[in-house]
Amino acid sequence: MKTYKIAIIGGDGTGPEVTAEAVKVMDVVSAKFGFKVEKNYFDFGGERYKRTGEILPDDGVADLKKHDAILLGAIGHPDVKPGILEKGLLLRMRFELDQYINLRPVRLLPGVETPLKDKGPKEIDYVVVRENSGDIYTGSGGLMMKDTPHEVATQTAVYSRFQVDRALRYAFEFARKHGKKARGVGKDNTLGLVGKTNVLTFVYDLWERAFHEMGEKEYPDIRRDYYHVDATCMWMVKSPEWFDVLVTGNLFGDIITDLGAITQGGMGIAAGGNINPEGVSMFEPIGGSAPKYTGMGVINPLAAICAMQMMLETLGEEKAAAKIDAAVRHVTANKLKSMAAGKMGYTTSQVGDMVAQHVAD
Ligand code: IPM
Ligand code: MN
Repeated sequence: MKTYKIAIIGGDGTGPEVTAEAVKVMDVVSAKFGFKVEKNYFDFGGERYKRTGEILPDDGVADLKKHDAILLGAIGHPDVKPGILEKGLLLRMRFELDQYINLRPVRLLPGVETPLKDKGPKEIDYVVVRENSGDIYTGSGGLMMKDTPHEVATQTAVYSRFQVDRALRYAFEFARKHGKKARGVGKDNTLGLVGKTNVLTFVYDLWERAFHEMGEKEYPDIRRDYYHVDATCMWMVKSPEWFDVLVTGNLFGDIITDLGAITQGGMGIAAGGNINPEGVSMFEPIGGSAPKYTGMGVINPLAAICAMQMMLETLGEEKAAAKIDAAVRHVTANKLKSMAAGKMGYTTSQVGDMVAQHVAD
């Protein structure tokens, strides 16, 4: 029987609670679809850092590399200064495991409320391929003449052709396989590049040239669009149905996917994958650790369950993933009153139970 080694990092705040529900569903689905999961728990996060002063032990990444995938709850602790855990743990894992794609679907599930007027699941159904290894996230820059009136701060967007090309290739392939035509819901598979070629005339010039070169030569079947990032924000609110697959740099991808998340019902339901197509990928609910709800049993575990679902899909367990997808849709359509913490009408573990039950049926 096929066995997957999964590293589980519950992390901070409500992370462990939502991860537990994802694991509950994973156990049921693996039994049903005939594969095994070996679970290894890691206690990385704010509590461990406070206790030991260590964020990620040196052999931590090497350990994680021995797994088929990682399921992550949330990183961020109210007693730890912002930036320390984010950089020392989350970004370090993304970089050292070279998870160069951050795949963030923006799809409204049935029964979920969206703040967008007159838009439903048919209109809000696209995917953002966020480049996850470069840009302003690489740490290039610094402070000079600090604490003087002449202090200068720089932080530079850095992209190599190699980084851009590998992200584009992933996005084109994704559009070919999962675009709107491939799914039978549109007449084209479309890849939209989100940039800022009118101002960032170096970085997004590189992206734009690489995009059209690759598209023309290797993906003539994929329709190509280009949008400035500011306009993209506008259309994400006004006409999300225009979008199919979007690809963009790390920072723009970070920003637009929070906007995307709120249009799909918020952090209780939005999930993403940090993907290294040739290595170990890490899946996470994209909401944070929500410390004020810790231990109350009120946080929505569906985002973590959807992250686990993406993990199984990426591992090649497509039938199991489809079953979880159907179960989550059943629960959003028929059960939950709201996606928000404390307003679901059920506890965290009851929501996990309902999904698990539907998967088992
Ligand atoms: C995200 C988060 C992270 C990011 C932070 C916590 C470093 O906002 O996953 O979107 O900026 O990538
Ligand atoms: Mn973010």
